[in-house]
Amino acid sequence: MKIPFQIAESNFTLVLFGASGSLAKLKLFPALYELEKEKRMPKDYAIVGYARTPMTDEAFRRFFEKAVRQQEKNPDEAALKRILAHIHYYTGSYTEQASYKTFLKQLKTIEKNPSRVRLAYFSVPPDAFPDIFKNLATVNWNTKKAPLRLIIEKPFGYNLASAKKLKKALQKNFKPEQIYLLDHYLGKEAVSNLLSLRYANSILTTLMTREFVSNIQITAMEDKDIEGRANYFDHVGILRDMVQSHLLQVLAYLTMYSPRTKTKSAIQHEKARVLKSIRVGKVVRGQYMGYNKEPGIPKDSQTETYTALKLLLKHPLWKGVPVYIRSGKSLQKKWTSVVIEFAPRRPQRETPGLPPNRLVIQLQPHEKIEFHLLTKLGGKTFDFHDLTTGRPIYCSGDCLVEHGRLLLDAIAGKQGLFLGFEEIFAAWRVIDPLQKSCDHARSKHCELHLYKKGSLGPKAADELIQADGFEWFNSTS
Ligand code: BG6
Repeated sequence: MKIPFQIAESNFTLVLFGASGSLAKLKLFPALYELEKEKRMPKDYAIVGYARTPMTDEAFRRFFEKAVRQQEKNPDEAALKRILAHIHYYTGSYTEQASYKTFLKQLKTIEKNPSRVRLAYFSVPPDAFPDIFKNLATVNWNTKKAPLRLIIEKPFGYNLASAKKLKKALQKNFKPEQIYLLDHYLGKEAVSNLLSLRYANSILTTLMTREFVSNIQITAMEDKDIEGRANYFDHVGILRDMVQSHLLQVLAYLTMYSPRTKTKSAIQHEKARVLKSIRVGKVVRGQYMGYNKEPGIPKDSQTETYTALKLLLKHPLWKGVPVYIRSGKSLQKKWTSVVIEFAPRRPQRETPGLPPNRLVIQLQPHEKIEFHLLTKLGGKTFDFHDLTTGRPIYCSGDCLVEHGRLLLDAIAGKQGLFLGFEEIFAAWRVIDPLQKSCDHARSKHCELHLYKKGSLGPKAADELIQADGFEWFNSTS
């Protein structure tokens, strides 16, 4: 079957508020370059940085180019030159309406064809949102083709209350079809494939229930530290940065019922249903040694750079199956995976030490799926060993990096891979109580366990899972 190659369905202008944000540099700019390299861009498009820092078009182009070269060691020079010709910069205020009006006039001189979609992408601190939204709605950047679309990247607020404020500020000024809440994990082929894998394979549909599964492990290890993002990270910590968003989304895709329809609201509703069913068992918080010596981090910082959690779902498919999540910075390697361990059968029950049967779905650095099956050794005795059978999952269809896919969807007006507030609130309801109890009374789960850089995390995380008779599965390759 020939897979249609997704291209930008319309001419567009992408305005980047707070264009120097780290996610823009790390993820968005390289993705935009990739779209140009793969000839997925329309003829007429513009990428315009809008920020308070004075900068010329030329300086912003150099900034963009540097970000691409940092991620892409041998870029396609012709494609890079082409995209740089579409890049502009405007020094503007977030609070003054006049700035937005002048910008609009300038935009019209950049945009050759007025039939286009305008998108605003935000990489600004949350307290800048209300002013920007109000001004955008008043000055009106809609085009004849479509109302302005707003792409807001996670984190959606800092807690439930601020997420609610964000929703209110958005709803006051914009319609739901203008709002695109972006979690880049949902643009990863491997993440959306979790649901497809389950429902396209009766082996998995049958086995992945409380009847057969003993526990689920979701791991997102990173070898990198906070990469100079002291200001952001020290206020957020790994629970908010990785778990509230990306990893609870992975959990939702892995455990939700197949939605009745493919509509955005049906998908979001099923995800929210799983997230609402979460009960937190135990939590371990860790910090890598030397974190409080990083530039910009207070000496007495209590921010966690590592966490391990035990969750239980009050969901009909998964009642009683513990889900363990762990994530951290400055660990041994970059490894994102989902491990489903199956309940012990007779050989495992009779012979302590035999490994469980497992399904390992590796999401990063390379996508791969592995079954770990107990198989009999040759000969007369019933001795077993682990047989690993697996394959890389090569993307062989229309393969795109996550921000590229999500951006093309936003240009096309498709919201299926974006989030809704119901699921965001449900995720905050899981995380908020953990944070609050650490802000005030120092309860036991707030204890910070120090761990060595390059390790697999604190010992307390191993003890958390061992207490239930399980072990973390750490990748072998
Ligand atoms: C971002 C976090 O959302 O995701 C970063 O803010 C983290 O701290 C990054 O490093 C991880 O994304 P990925 O795609 O590299 O796993």
